[in-house]
Amino acid sequence: MSIPIICDCDPGHDDAIALILALSRKELDVKAVTTCAGNQTPDKTLNNALRILTMLGRSDIEVAGGATKPLACDLIIAPDVHGESGLDGPELPSPIFQASKLNAIELMAKTLQASEESITLVPTGPLTNIALLLSAYPHLHKKVKQIVLMGGAAGVGNWTPAAEFNIFVDPDAANIVFKSGIPIVMCGLDVTHQAQIMDEDIERIRAIPNPIAQCVAELLDFFMIYHRDPKWKFEGAPLHDPCTIAWLLKPELFETQDCFVGIETKGEYTQGMTVVDRYSLTDKQPNAKVLFGLNRQGFVDLIVESLMFYNK
Ligand code: RIB
Ligand code: CA
Repeated sequence: MSIPIICDCDPGHDDAIALILALSRKELDVKAVTTCAGNQTPDKTLNNALRILTMLGRSDIEVAGGATKPLACDLIIAPDVHGESGLDGPELPSPIFQASKLNAIELMAKTLQASEESITLVPTGPLTNIALLLSAYPHLHKKVKQIVLMGGAAGVGNWTPAAEFNIFVDPDAANIVFKSGIPIVMCGLDVTHQAQIMDEDIERIRAIPNPIAQCVAELLDFFMIYHRDPKWKFEGAPLHDPCTIAWLLKPELFETQDCFVGIETKGEYTQGMTVVDRYSLTDKQPNAKVLFGLNRQGFVDLIVESLMFYNK
């Protein structure tokens, strides 16, 4: 029985690879794709989702654009990481289909309403759309099985010393989501910084004989550029968003801990921080399963194995 999911994303190189991974597997049933502003402006992230699905031959999947800015903050984007288009690097086709006439929140609500079974939401960008959905459709909370999100960190941030990008962009939305009571799996930097793809892994991917794998190799070539900065002390590039899909496919690759996670929405230095109570120092009940450990080789092998499914 495949797991029904909705991907809410801000493609973005790692979002794109997460989508490619999800759509290669029969264990997952991608019901809809929604986009938000984050890595790039909302028009570009929407266009990028349409381009990726066009490349995959999946114009059957409904795609809708969502919030054009965070709930309360001004939008920040990440062109240094993802380039002017948001998917710089490979040649991607122009979309052959239009986005839905619905917005992301309406499409998620329609999909949840129509589904007999509850659906897993997989947000890999700022949580603006998810927060708007939960606020506008409280009666649909019971149709959300869990939220498997990329965001946050128990340790240091990657956009400020205290905050990870997705949460920093819209801390108010994250606060709504983490207080919703819906089961959350948090793929934060603690695990995604272990999910580094190395040069030799990229060459393994480039050797896979299909055009999708070639595109992923070229996405990774570009994604590596930003992460080769010695300040990160990385050997490779951290594949953040694909960790959400890898968790759904092979949770045994990960070590987890149920923790209370609070979102700092103010704070001169700490806005957007996910405060993770690892040692139960507060009286607050855990509201998230936080991923901490990863079998990196198993993660890379899963990506390589999945990309081979695109061999004709
Ligand atoms: O901090 C990493 C996250 O921010 C990833 O989701 C990346 O795509 C960007 O959105
Ligand atoms: Ca993302």
